[in-house]
Amino acid sequence: MKAALEQIRQTVAAELNAAHDLKALDALRVKFLGKKGELTAILKQMGKLSAEERPVIGQLANEVRADIEKRMENRAAALKEELLNLRLAAEKIDVTMPGTKSPIGKQHPLSMVLEEIKEIFLGMGFDVASGPEVELDYYNFEALNLPKDHPARDTQDTFYITENILLRTQTSPVQIRVMENQKPPVRIIAPGRVYRSDALDATHSPLFHQIEGLVVDKNVTMADLKGTLTMFARRLYGEDAQIRFRPHHFPFTEPSAEVDFMCFACGGKGCRLCKGEGWIEILGAGMVHPKVLSNCGIDPEEYSGFAFGMGLERIVMRRFGIDDIRMFYENDQRFLNQF
Ligand code: PHE
Repeated sequence: MKAALEQIRQTVAAELNAAHDLKALDALRVKFLGKKGELTAILKQMGKLSAEERPVIGQLANEVRADIEKRMENRAAALKEELLNLRLAAEKIDVTMPGTKSPIGKQHPLSMVLEEIKEIFLGMGFDVASGPEVELDYYNFEALNLPKDHPARDTQDTFYITENILLRTQTSPVQIRVMENQKPPVRIIAPGRVYRSDALDATHSPLFHQIEGLVVDKNVTMADLKGTLTMFARRLYGEDAQIRFRPHHFPFTEPSAEVDFMCFACGGKGCRLCKGEGWIEILGAGMVHPKVLSNCGIDPEEYSGFAFGMGLERIVMRRFGIDDIRMFYENDQRFLNQF
């Protein structure tokens, strides 16, 4: 029996070293110390021993049991530490490593310049107004002094939805909507999308953006229009910026003008950007037609106003030297990342 006990002590020592997780360790505990374990089996035979042998073997058995328990405890502690170290190694974070940056979106070049233009007009006391892109014929044409048979309607290739509903071809209908709802003084800009059924090419898109301007008050004159646009040009292109008016015709303004800005690239000398002109056409403008005022319930004898409209794409293309309008709408990262 003594030999059997010693044998168990040895086996346990060997098997413990082979136990590589807590589950295996637990299995060993059951195998040797459990109710049906090997040590228990030996102790059950104690009854067969003589009175002298019993205390000796008993003591040895206790010693062996204590020894096994001790070893198991040690092995358990060692295993736990081993597992902890493994986990620590696996979960280790090097806080000095450079982080992975998540890609952040950027402002679209059209939005960038629009924000800039809005800031300029907000600084001059304008509010920002808006109107629907799906518009009534009345607001897009009729109230702007373009009756149904007016030939100027042909110059704006309109997407009609029904006879009376269309995609707005200009931001000018917002003028009417604002004046219907707000008594003078009125001082607004209205940026937004407009639609014309043009074929898509490097300089035309069926969808583009305009920025409308409208000022109505007592004693508003052409000089106010010129002063406002001169100020705008200087804010946008620098203190040396100059503008010039060329006579033009719009049904909703009288008199009307096309407004050129001096080419910011060559200072008026003529270069590739302005095609040798020295000037670049930027907007349409004029004094609000008396009929348009009265269409909105504003007395043209008491009030006068000016309006202007400009294309955003053109300004942005000149600003960044973009030669194809389609770039704006394709969302090509190689293009967008340059801004
Ligand atoms: N709506 C005109 C256009 O699209 C521009 C304009 C606006 C002209 C306001 C005069 C006054 O061409």
